[in-house]
Amino acid sequence: MCGIFAYQWHKPATPILEHGLQRLEYRGYDSAWLAVFTDQWQALLVRAVGKVSELSKKIEWQKSITDLTVYTSGIAHTRRATHGGVTEENTHPHHDTDHHFYVVHNGIIENQRKLKDELESEWYVFYGQTDTEVIPALLAKYWTGDLYQTVQKVLPLLHGAYALLIKSSYCPDEIIGVKRGSPLLFALHPETQEFFFSSDAQALAGYASQIIYLDDGELLHLKNKEYTITSEKWIIQRNPTTLDVWAMEASKWDYEHFMLKEIFEQSAIMRRILMGRVDFAHKTLMAEAFHGMHDEAYERIVLVGCGTSYNAALVWAYWIEHLTGISAKAEIASEYLNKLIPTDVKTLHIFLSQSGETADSIEVLKYIKERWWKTFGIVNVVWSTIAQLTDHGLFMRAGYEIGVASTKAFLGQLTCLFLLTLWLGKRRSMALSTYNALLEELQHIPNKIDQILQTFDLSQEQDTIRTHISSHIQSASTMFYLWRGREYPIACEWSLKMKEISYIHSEAYPAGELKHGPLALIQSTTPSCLITLDDEFFSQNISSLAEVQARKGTIIAIANDQLPQAEYTIVIPRTHSLLAPFLVTIAMQLLSYQTAYSLGREIDKPRNLAKSVTVK
Ligand code: M6R
Repeated sequence: MCGIFAYQWHKPATPILEHGLQRLEYRGYDSAWLAVFTDQWQALLVRAVGKVSELSKKIEWQKSITDLTVYTSGIAHTRRATHGGVTEENTHPHHDTDHHFYVVHNGIIENQRKLKDELESEWYVFYGQTDTEVIPALLAKYWTGDLYQTVQKVLPLLHGAYALLIKSSYCPDEIIGVKRGSPLLFALHPETQEFFFSSDAQALAGYASQIIYLDDGELLHLKNKEYTITSEKWIIQRNPTTLDVWAMEASKWDYEHFMLKEIFEQSAIMRRILMGRVDFAHKTLMAEAFHGMHDEAYERIVLVGCGTSYNAALVWAYWIEHLTGISAKAEIASEYLNKLIPTDVKTLHIFLSQSGETADSIEVLKYIKERWWKTFGIVNVVWSTIAQLTDHGLFMRAGYEIGVASTKAFLGQLTCLFLLTLWLGKRRSMALSTYNALLEELQHIPNKIDQILQTFDLSQEQDTIRTHISSHIQSASTMFYLWRGREYPIACEWSLKMKEISYIHSEAYPAGELKHGPLALIQSTTPSCLITLDDEFFSQNISSLAEVQARKGTIIAIANDQLPQAEYTIVIPRTHSLLAPFLVTIAMQLLSYQTAYSLGREIDKPRNLAKSVTVK
């Protein structure tokens, strides 16, 4: 989604903003822009459609004709088009007709059509198609001679979710940031008196040492070197917290892509998630980690998420129903309010989100909170909106996930959810022997993940996944992921991963259902991945394999041993059948990555997608 970065005083602003934008690139965008200002409000705007590297080329050219070092403050933005096409004209900042107000905006102004109609009836002429342009127009219309007062007059007119940065030629030493539904952070370096705004703390690594996470409805007014925060016009005190720059630093290390690095981090992440939450020696779970889960007699659990987070919810719904007897249902956040979901005070709502900023999930969370029903969050980003709004929660501890395709966050979600299953199960209907067996096996999962990862070696030409399977898949235009029983969510996640990074269409389908229609699509160019583990579904899966092969379809089996009947096999270690999702997931991530790699796709930033989807 769109990214905001701003810098105030006193170093040359251009390289700082450019670097900030590079760090925001992973969020997904289609154009980039920056504006820098001198102390006397001389402004220089550079815009580019496409990547930040395009913007950098234009900056280089500017350097050859202008002294950029005199521009010591500025605002910058990566835009992902919602209203108005991907054109230079529609990149931010937007300004009023007389260029007195510059506005950067993330989010959507929902009543923009009505506001534009009103302004147009007063002969205001808009130059582009964005919703943002209405904001500088309103600031110009209601200008009082004081920037803070004017912004306070305009904000109640805007409906929707947004983060805004506002600068004005009338007061070059001021900048206002407003957060309402979209992320916005303020950061500072007290020793050097430098100030920053960003939609993402990661972009600030190495620049600022202290940070303030703005809450919804808050406005931060920076005037020269003083700042005040107001909420509903009341001044509030908020002390900055330390920005952990080392934790923020996002580096690919020696990996070619963030996604690959993140896949390879997973065993370490799983060990980190378990640390301090499980005592394997005594087979106990640490009570404080599960605060908020144990004292309520919930009759139902509803899990809410989108994309990969929804797939993790599906895995958990299966675990929880089979192991605890509690009724559990996974819901797609964007559909939640469209359905009549039976719910009440005896229902616990669990929100799953890597970013904690997904607009569809936040909308449901707000709806639940308005009714005072209990909420629990499983979130990766600690200061995020979902983390703040939920009553209780477990942090994933997965670290920064940069690749748009979620990998380590999915594994983090599964790990947290499995712990919650054991916690609830012990208090409900789970047999002690099952509890002990599952906990015992959980301890071995990180090592088994390492075993799978060791089979994947980019430098090894003989690697099965690398050379054979992915090159077979890459010529397909569609493929199937065939599943039975509890494997459904993993097949869905696999299919999602393949779609988003390789752009190959795929479908997760119950293997037994093939003969009722989809068999018509099977031919030599339609590969099918079949989860064929050593479990109660094995013989039925072998029948499905034969059914596909009889139509000349190719089978890629995920199995515990080489499967002679299949054209290709990806072997994964044996584990308890309920823990298999942890291992199947790793194999499918590697296969999707390798296929996208062979196809030369832009793996970390797939087309049309954003890391954090902050609009509905
Ligand atoms: O940050 P969230 O977990 O709330 O994001 C939800 C989805 O947008 C996200 O999982 C998306 O589907 C990923 N790109 C999948 O890899």
